Order: sequence, then C-alpha cells, then structure tokens
Amino acid sequence: LNRASFPEGFVFGTSSSAYQYEGAADIDGRTPSIWDTFTHNYPEKIADRSNGDIAIDEYHRYKEDVEIMKDLNMDAYRFSISWSRILPKGKLSGGVNKEGIKYYNNLINELLAKDIQPFGTILHWDIPQVLEDEYGGLLSPKIVDDFRDYAEVCFKEFGDRVKHWITVNEPWSIGKFAYANGAYAPGRCSPWQNLNCTGGDSATEPYIVSHYQLLAHAAAVNIYKTKYQETQKGKIGIAINSFWILPLYDTKLDHLAAQRALDFMLGWFMDPLTRGDYPSLVGSRLPKFSSHESRLVRGSFDFIGLNYYTAKYATDAPQLSDARPSFLTDALVILSSVSSEPNGVQLGARGAYPEGLRELLLYIKENYNNPLIYITENGTEESNDPSLSLEEALNDTSRIDYFYSHLYYIQTAINEGANIKGYFAWSLMDNFEWDFGYTQRYGIVFVDYKNGQKRYPKLSATWFKNFLQCRVHGYDD
Ligand code: GCO
Repeated sequence: LNRASFPEGFVFGTSSSAYQYEGAADIDGRTPSIWDTFTHNYPEKIADRSNGDIAIDEYHRYKEDVEIMKDLNMDAYRFSISWSRILPKGKLSGGVNKEGIKYYNNLINELLAKDIQPFGTILHWDIPQVLEDEYGGLLSPKIVDDFRDYAEVCFKEFGDRVKHWITVNEPWSIGKFAYANGAYAPGRCSPWQNLNCTGGDSATEPYIVSHYQLLAHAAAVNIYKTKYQETQKGKIGIAINSFWILPLYDTKLDHLAAQRALDFMLGWFMDPLTRGDYPSLVGSRLPKFSSHESRLVRGSFDFIGLNYYTAKYATDAPQLSDARPSFLTDALVILSSVSSEPNGVQLGARGAYPEGLRELLLYIKENYNNPLIYITENGTEESNDPSLSLEEALNDTSRIDYFYSHLYYIQTAINEGANIKGYFAWSLMDNFEWDFGYTQRYGIVFVDYKNGQKRYPKLSATWFKNFLQCRVHGYDD
C-alpha cells in the first residue's frame, strides 16, 4: 500500500487547529477565546493544568513546520483560523485585525510556495470570549450572523488561495463535551449527564448549540456560494465526527440499538445536510428548522469532512428507559468500548477499529447519496511519558499500524465506490489536547516541550514520507 494505490488527485495531509497549535495567545491584537478563559479559570479541568498560551508556538514556527511537511511529501495541510485573531471584538463592526490577517497570509503563502494545499477550518471550537460574554456564544441565534460575517472575512482575505473551506469542526463534540459533560469550553453541564458542574442549566443546551452550529455553517456556505465561489472556484464543507457503531450481540434488538446510536451521532448532522431535517428519533429533542432554514441547510456542502477515530458497541437496554437518560443516545441504548461478548468483534487498543472506517464510508455512500468525502482527521495517541528516552518516544510503531490499517480500509471503500478524495492524519505535531492538556501526544512529529519546543520526526513520520514518496500520477513537480 502506498500513494499509488489511491486514485489520481487524492490528497494526503495532516490536520491541526489554532488553539492547539498557535500559542501567541495575546500577541498582535488577538483577544481571548472561550478556551483561554476556560483553561485559565478552571485549570483543574485540564489534566496537567496547562493551557494554549504558548502551545507549540506555531505562530512563530510555521516556516519550520511547513518545511517539515514538505520533507514528509505532504500534499495538503488542514489548519484552523482563530476568530479572535481576525475579529478581536468578535464582530465585523469591531474591526478586522490586520496583524491576524497577516499571520494567515504568511502561513498560506508559505504552504503554497512549498506546493502544499491549504485546507482552512473557519471555526475549531475557539469562539471569541466577547461573544460568550455578550450573548452566550453558541447558545444564541446571534452567533449565526456573526459567524457568517467572520467567515466572509476569511473568504475575502484568503479565498484567492484557499480552495477548500471547512466551516465548523465537529459540532457533535461541542454539544457533548462543551454543553453536556462540561469537559470543554465553556464547560457547561446538562442534566442528561447527571453531573454537577458550574454553568449548564438546561437539558436542551447541547441540542440548541448543535442547531445553531448547523445554521451558522449553512449561512457561511450560502455567502460563499452566492458571492465567492464563482470567482474563487473553491469548495466548501463541514467536518463531522462519528464512531462506527457495532451491535454488541448479534441480535435484532442490538442491531436496532446500533442504528439508533448512529442516528444520534452521524444522522444528527448528515440528515439535515442532505435532507433538511433531523432523524425523527433525535429531532424530537431539537429545535425545529423553519422551511427557509431547512432549505439553507439541505445540500449546504460540496464535500463532507469526516473525522474518524474509533468504534463503539451498542446494546439494547430497556431497563434504562427512565433510569439514566443519555444525551448521546436515546434512552434505550448503552454504548461501550468494551465487549462482554467473547465471540464478538474485538476492538483494538483504545477502541480502534479500522474496518469501522470502511463500514462508515459505505454506510454514508448508501444512505446519503455518495457525497464527496475528505477524511479530515484520523489518528491515535500515546501518553506523554517523561521517563521515556527520546529514542523510545520516537518509536511509535503502533501509530504506523493504525495509519496503515485505516488507509487500507479507505482504499477498500474507494474500490467499492465511495467518493473519497483525501486523507488528513491527526496530527502533524504533538500539541495541546484539550482537556488532556499535553499529557497525550497525537503527532507524527514529537515536540520536546521542555527543550525549546524542538521537533523530532517519529517513526510514523518517516513511514509517511516513504508511503508518499512515489508520485506516479503525473504530479507536476
Ligand atoms: C477535533 C479533535 C482534535 C483532537 C483530536 C484528538 O475534533 O478536531 O478533537 O482537535 O485533538 O480529535 O483527540
């Protein structure tokens, strides 16, 4: 398996996000995002009480890091733009920060100079704190217009060179981790989780923020399609995440439970994006789309970005119906990463299930009219173990297995007719892993946080470099 096993034009790259990489939190006019506030106000919510103030200092090291991508034969790089670096007051009326524009121009131009295609994510969770303070951020419909205005600044400033846009990243995760269990900024909890943490006051918040993220996405796509696409000739989509769901036991009831669980994660977003409404099971908890909104959301993508990491089991659990309702599934499903079924399918370490990616891709092909897909994230972590020597830390053979097996199943899905045009590994570098801080390392390149943030390619980076070496498809370099 290597680059040549994939169709012509298929792009390989790595993925990143602004808060996890950039640092330079209060430099050159950037104002705090909800992640700055969250990490500083609730350090106990981050495994090592860390934050993204410095992160991996991408703001100052982008040239070196683009050089690394080039050396690894990467075709593309997915990064996100920091809203509060571009619009320090959150809103267009508060003015555009020239220094912020300059940073992304520099990054984009550096990528293009090295023949690496920029894939720009407009929002990867770092809502400006001013908008959180003013109207509750994603809980208010006001976010829709403000996001659309911000997205338009990105199209105007960068769209001559960025030809692939991702509006929002993983709206499901925000519902789950930011508004149901309080693990992510702004750290609100809903009674669905029966947790007792500050903030959250209503069972409906996770659903409201999912709804507004979809509407904000659709508003940005609408502006792009009506004002920019014809001249800029780019493509636009959204990045959604889903587990693959396996029935725990091979029974009718568990197959149905798995379907319900999938509707609660994948269908929740894919149904509105392709049909203009939520799956009925999930929809009963969500605000309704007006017919105008429904029309805007339906078909609001040129491609779907799919973030895939792991699979889970689902089992039918009628005993749960009133005991412990879950935000994640309907009341009758238990999801788990551990099989109690001795003869059943086994998941790998940390729930990895590479063939699940093939299943998911073929499920999307069958059920959602075979959309164009980029795998916008796929990867695995090791824990940051200070007792390891550098040599040991770079020896990430299990990550190579992880990539190889997922790429194998992507290729199988392509042969079976799925329309997949690219693959982005999460992640280029070790970085700030949200609530895990720096305790988990996802990079194919090791970052030595203690010694000047020096970068060292892991074995998986070298593996990728070799995998991508042969350029048989007539790339013109
Ligand atoms: C995302 C992800 C990344 C994480 C990665 C590893 O949704 O885009 O959460 O930001 O770092 O998934 O957990």
